Amino acid sequence: MTTSPSEALKVLLIGSGGREHALAWKLAASPLLGTLYCTPGNPGIADYATLIDIDIEDHDAVIAFSHSFEIDLVVIGPEAPLVDGLVDALKAANIKAFGPTQAAAQLEGSKGFTKDLCARFNIPTGAYGRFNNAPKAKAYIRAQGAPIVVKADGLAAGKGVVVAMTLDEALEAVDACFEGQFGDAGTEVVVEAFLDGEEASFFCICDGVTALPFGSAQDHKRVGDGDTGANTGGMGAYSPAPVMDEGMVERTMRELIEPTMRGMAEIGAPFTGVLFAGLMITKDGPQLIEYNTRFGDPECQVLMSRLKDDLLVIMLATVNGMLDQISVRWSNEAALTVVMAADGYPASPRKGTVIKGVEDAEALQAVNIFHASTIHKDGELLANGGRVLNVTATGSTVTQAQARAYEAVSKIKWVGGFCRNDIGWRAVEREKADQ
Ligand code: AMP
Ligand code: GLY
Repeated sequence: MTTSPSEALKVLLIGSGGREHALAWKLAASPLLGTLYCTPGNPGIADYATLIDIDIEDHDAVIAFSHSFEIDLVVIGPEAPLVDGLVDALKAANIKAFGPTQAAAQLEGSKGFTKDLCARFNIPTGAYGRFNNAPKAKAYIRAQGAPIVVKADGLAAGKGVVVAMTLDEALEAVDACFEGQFGDAGTEVVVEAFLDGEEASFFCICDGVTALPFGSAQDHKRVGDGDTGANTGGMGAYSPAPVMDEGMVERTMRELIEPTMRGMAEIGAPFTGVLFAGLMITKDGPQLIEYNTRFGDPECQVLMSRLKDDLLVIMLATVNGMLDQISVRWSNEAALTVVMAADGYPASPRKGTVIKGVEDAEALQAVNIFHASTIHKDGELLANGGRVLNVTATGSTVTQAQARAYEAVSKIKWVGGFCRNDIGWRAVEREKADQ
């Protein structure tokens, strides 16, 4: 890198979740960092960053702040500002930003866009149809039969997907989309073949040309133990994903990621930032379920717990188009995070309940608590949203990381919150079987 530590870089981080707390923690560990600002941030991020309040939908306001505080790099955590073109606005104002352009963020912003890209560049994924009206979607579903998957085309906060085991469920899902349940996201519907196998999340950092593998994870989307109940943003995760061994990573790079990078460049939207592939490892190999164009939350928390290298150096290499000169080292340990959520999550989480014991939990060996949605009020820490804390631990095995994380959970005194009790169960069972 050309940057010397004495340059003391100024970084603006955008977001307020556990993902951004984990990013702030890693960025703060960089000797290159001078000042970290975060908008809007949270009480955990405040340990590492100066919190500021900018309306991120107001691109001119983000640009004005970045200019007046001489920001060297803007790091964007969540998807909405990416799909909204914040990176394009910053670049046009000569401000470096980590994340994809609006055109490249379509990989997350439009499921139909991604499916068409897969078809054009031979990227393995389920057969599909795109529809802008219910009768045609239903006719396609009747012709294909169940199980089948119905997806709102646009961003629906992870809630726009119905994996329908029966024809009736699929037809109902089509009506729900076109009746506006997901707002504008559901004006187009993608119907997709059901893929059978084990799911894994696979991450790459990309600079438009080079894609660098950046770890794997498995998450737990359902709210209840044993993977039951409503879908959520994620109730916990662990890294690495056992199915993503060296051979599977190599195959995923060759069959999915590299054609995607070439395809995006060819259509004039080279991909920069984090490419997060939701994969189904089927008996025929890896198939794409979906792309996201940012780190997963809570997957980021476990990835950052295992990353040995300087995140700021990696992000600078990304925005400077120099990823071909970088290699990334990971801890051999496993990391696991348990999401503690407010009662009522995901439908209607209860805010304002008091949380105690975070310091006791954090004092345990190999444990880190990332704040997702908390607030300080009158000297107390309160829940302020759905997913509230991410209790994260590392260990030589997933079993050990899991035991440490749940010991930390037991130190947190919070009437009004809950967590799953089985995060990592698949990997723990595997480890038992391998003994
Ligand atoms: P998505 O929001 O696209 O990640 O979908 C949410 C969840 O639905 C995924 O994590 C999968 O568990 C499931 N899913 C999505 N698409 C498919 C598919 N084609 N086959 C089987 N399961 C799927
Ligand atoms: N945990 C899934 C996501 O961030 O999309």
